[in-house]
Amino acid sequence: MSSSQGQGWDPDRYGQFETERSQPFRDLAALVEQEEALSVLDLGSGTGELTAWLHRKLSADETVGIDRSEAMINRAAVHAGDGVRFEHAEIEAFIDGQPNGVWPLVWSNAALQWLPDHGTLIPRILELVAPTGQIAIQMPVNVDNPSHLIARQLGTDPRFAASLDGYERKDTVQSPEWYAAMLHESGFTIQQISVQVYGHVLPETRSISDWVQGSLLTPYRERLSSETYSEFIEAYELRLIEQLGDHHPCFYPFKRLLIWGRRTI
Ligand SMILES: C[S@@+](CC[C@H](N)C(=O)[O-])C[C@H]1O[C@@H](n2cnc3c(N)ncnc32)[C@H](O)[C@@H]1O
Repeated sequence: MSSSQGQGWDPDRYGQFETERSQPFRDLAALVEQEEALSVLDLGSGTGELTAWLHRKLSADETVGIDRSEAMINRAAVHAGDGVRFEHAEIEAFIDGQPNGVWPLVWSNAALQWLPDHGTLIPRILELVAPTGQIAIQMPVNVDNPSHLIARQLGTDPRFAASLDGYERKDTVQSPEWYAAMLHESGFTIQQISVQVYGHVLPETRSISDWVQGSLLTPYRERLSSETYSEFIEAYELRLIEQLGDHHPCFYPFKRLLIWGRRTI
């Protein structure tokens, strides 16, 4: 793990839109089938609050949350206990060390879009699921929204490009049918996969900046000095208002991909 990776996550900033961000988590949970004695692996568990909620909702025996952000893991500590625990680890390293076919439910909400090479990653994650077990993944697919496009454009702006040292937020998420085929090939013949548009009403256009500072812009904060990051945000908000208009309130549509499947083979 490089020293800066994962250090840009700010639990308070991320939690600012708790209601809006938790809805897809709950929608994904509604797809999971309740079973006796579930063991749940939560990849990218963040502040842990929703991990503990899922554990209680499913009456699971054991739930393990993995996250590489020290700030997030520290915040999650308060939700540990009664079968819930958290590990500070990179998802990639953690899953490499896991035996195949042991987890009745592998879960990941709003985390796997940060990991590259889904062609290798997703089959490996699917291998961890126990025979007849379940997979549940939610990822944002909002890359074509101005909120995401502007961040990308500014990354190549001469004011920021040198400090970012070639960093570009790459879109690693594939099409819904790609995941459907991937699940099918791995024996998840029962599946439910959909794209859901979450329509958020934010106080003003500028609030979109607050939203993305809690997630999308995290790697920019990790790479830029605090002064340059402030300039980046100023330029971001200017462009946002130029493109979308200065609305009070502002409607922010956000697309998300929800994936659920059960292994039958
Ligand atoms: C948007 S938050 C989602 C947190 C939580 N799942 C939720 O729904 O509230 C994404 C989380 O994934 C974690 N993350 C991103 N890449 C990771 C990686 N490679 N290994 C472990 N955690 C990672 C981040 O540290 C962050 O806490």
